[in-house]
Amino acid sequence: MPAPARRVPGSARLRRQLVEQLESNGCLTSPGVRRAFLAVPRERFLPEISKREGLERVYQNQAIVTAHDERGIPTSSSSQPSMMASMLEQLDLRPGQRVLEVGAGTGYNAALLAKIVGARGRVISVELDAATARGARRGLASVKSRAKVVRGDGREGWPRLGPYDRIIVTASTPTVTRAWHEQLSEGGLLELPLVHRPGQVQAIVTLRKQAQALRSEAVLYGGFMPLRDAPGAPVAPPPPSLGATERIGDQSRSLAQLSGEALRRLSAARRQRLLSLALSEPRTHELGLRAPRPALNLYLMIEAPEDRLVGGWARIGVIGENGDGLALMAGGASTFTRIESYGDSDAERVLLSLIEGWKQRGRPAGHDLRVEVGFPPGAASSDVRLSWGS
Ligand SMILES: C[S@@+](CC[C@H](N)C(=O)[O-])C[C@H]1O[C@@H](n2cnc3c(N)ncnc32)[C@H](O)[C@@H]1O
Repeated sequence: MPAPARRVPGSARLRRQLVEQLESNGCLTSPGVRRAFLAVPRERFLPEISKREGLERVYQNQAIVTAHDERGIPTSSSSQPSMMASMLEQLDLRPGQRVLEVGAGTGYNAALLAKIVGARGRVISVELDAATARGARRGLASVKSRAKVVRGDGREGWPRLGPYDRIIVTASTPTVTRAWHEQLSEGGLLELPLVHRPGQVQAIVTLRKQAQALRSEAVLYGGFMPLRDAPGAPVAPPPPSLGATERIGDQSRSLAQLSGEALRRLSAARRQRLLSLALSEPRTHELGLRAPRPALNLYLMIEAPEDRLVGGWARIGVIGENGDGLALMAGGASTFTRIESYGDSDAERVLLSLIEGWKQRGRPAGHDLRVEVGFPPGAASSDVRLSWGS
């Protein structure tokens, strides 16, 4: 006898389950953001995925890629709901506010923003890609959202409808544009994923406008695809990487994976040697502490010299001066407890001294990171300064 078909919960039920999950992991805390997630059906912004893979797929707490460039590098997505919720919370939105979003993507986030600021508020979302902008408009129309999608380069903002109380950028950037600063009201908030080292974890910073400067109020961690220069323009390729994967039957397992600009300066022979080191048995150095992964990851990403830093969210560490050694942080799912090192000991010394610096600074976490952005007269780009407060 065939097994009885499982009844797939309806959209409203799946939204409630997602909200419970976001609340229990601490990403969703305020009534306004909660109401928005309960009210806006995500499937309306992902019609093809929901048709092809079912409604439950749309309500998993995962980013869903919706477009790629010709090399297969993702160019648009619906961001991970927990990241969206954390960013919306950090933006401290109020009914009646005027909000500019840069990077409409599917339009789902614009719909959430519009729910939160309500009928007296205004949401404008700028999208570079014409087809993506059309898709976002369709999604927004299907839920009768008041958010408006315009096509353009969001790095210029959308001056005609400014100033804005809030600006949220949903693609990553190494700089802050003058346009965002100019179009933000005094005391307003700008939230953006800031790239410090390409390919590494990004600090998602919320900055308050104070006259000529922008100063950070809060920091999250994440990874967003980059803002592009023009529709169809290739996304900057990720930093160099080395890897070895074992495939047996239909099972595959990563044996080693290193990435970072630091690999670019090594000759092909040295890169190959480094990979064979990474595949060898490591020496283990127990640190005698449990360092929260996100905090130490962010610290190392900022403080490790760029010509030494390798890894990413999963594994971060440094290479020796000539690539003759490698030292990587290791531990459990949420903490680092040891260093695993390979080859000569120079890399291990560098990593240990960085960890010592982190301890001496009082073990700073994301909320201790201070970001100050200025706009030097005549300079083409912003001056972004990072420091650790207490
Ligand atoms: C991660 S997706 C946005 C996610 C979206 N907010 C959502 O929730 O569905 C980033 C978007 O930024 C757009 N984008 C990239 N560069 C841009 C630019 N210079 N101006 C405006 N949009 C841009 C991409 O086309 C892409 O749709």
